[in-house]
Amino acid sequence: MRILVIGGAGYIGSVAVSELVKQGYEVVVLDALYTGHRKAVDPQAKFYQGDIEDKFLVSQILRNEKIDAVMHFAAYSLVPESVKKPLKYYDNNVAGMIALLEAMNDANVKYLIFSSSAATYGIPEKLPITEESPLNPINPYGDTKVMMEKIIHWADQADGIKSIALRYFNVAGAGNNGEIGEDHHPETHLVPNILRSAISGDGKFTIFGNDYDTKDGTNIRDYVEVNDLIDAHILALKYLIKNKQSDVFNIGTAHGYSNLEILQAARQVTGIDIPYTMGPRRSGDPDSLVADSTKARTVLHWQPKHETAEDTIASAWQWHQKHPNGYEDK
Ligand code: UFG
Repeated sequence: MRILVIGGAGYIGSVAVSELVKQGYEVVVLDALYTGHRKAVDPQAKFYQGDIEDKFLVSQILRNEKIDAVMHFAAYSLVPESVKKPLKYYDNNVAGMIALLEAMNDANVKYLIFSSSAATYGIPEKLPITEESPLNPINPYGDTKVMMEKIIHWADQADGIKSIALRYFNVAGAGNNGEIGEDHHPETHLVPNILRSAISGDGKFTIFGNDYDTKDGTNIRDYVEVNDLIDAHILALKYLIKNKQSDVFNIGTAHGYSNLEILQAARQVTGIDIPYTMGPRRSGDPDSLVADSTKARTVLHWQPKHETAEDTIASAWQWHQKHPNGYEDK
């Protein structure tokens, strides 16, 4: 089976490429390398550099490489950046999805696995969040993911493109025994920011707000380990090809950790008493996001292997220790 992984040089896409290769899939990667790293791509995958919005290029790759299914990891994904630069997000994420679906129609490729997000739910009415919860995003990033899901729905009705949208909760950890990890510039995510601060000893880690409606006042998130997340993609791909029916699944562990609890878990894993400053709120952050992932567990038979924050942080810590300067060290 031949899979095109768009965004396969990014943090999550590169772990997908490595696992697909390991499991015997033929993998082709398309990545613009705006935020991804060429060194993150498994050498057994064929690599093209280019933009998802380049319909002609995408359709040529789909045809020439005889692709059976696409995994799409090429959206911009930073909540705070999307609040500051919404048009950048609507352009890349929404226009990118339209271009991809046009190219898939053109090349007659009918299967798509796509990264959606818990950011689609906004401020949930109740926890944990099921797939039926209303979609009311509170930041442009989440809004682009809702739009992408809607566009896919209508493309399925009209053109028979079958897709599975995986609504990720917060992803952390590293692939390949700490050899493929998170390396964003600038880094905005909680776990890498804590671990970078642990390594550098700069004392600059800040928690954004302690006046939320949660047990300790800091935001609560559900952290899913990146290898577990990729297991869900491969199960979703098999399910889609077998059942030929579009669907949507939450991918999270169903355990919520506050930002202070994540800091505590990181101290435990690293053995370092990482200091922090309590700062003001960051805009666009919902109080709490915790998944009800019953549907993925029962329908896809997905079983995350890392259920605690310590387990999830452990592989990220391996990556940061081995590669304190990210892919520059590889
Ligand atoms: N945070 C800090 N300090 C930091 C970085 C983050 O306190 O240095 C806080 C944030 O304010 C938030 C929490 O840590 O309360 C998690 O923030 P992240 O930036 O790590 O992740 P987000 O929850 O903003 O977003 C992530 C992905 C999105 C995805 C979302 C789903 O980046 O793509 O999870 O829950 F949609």
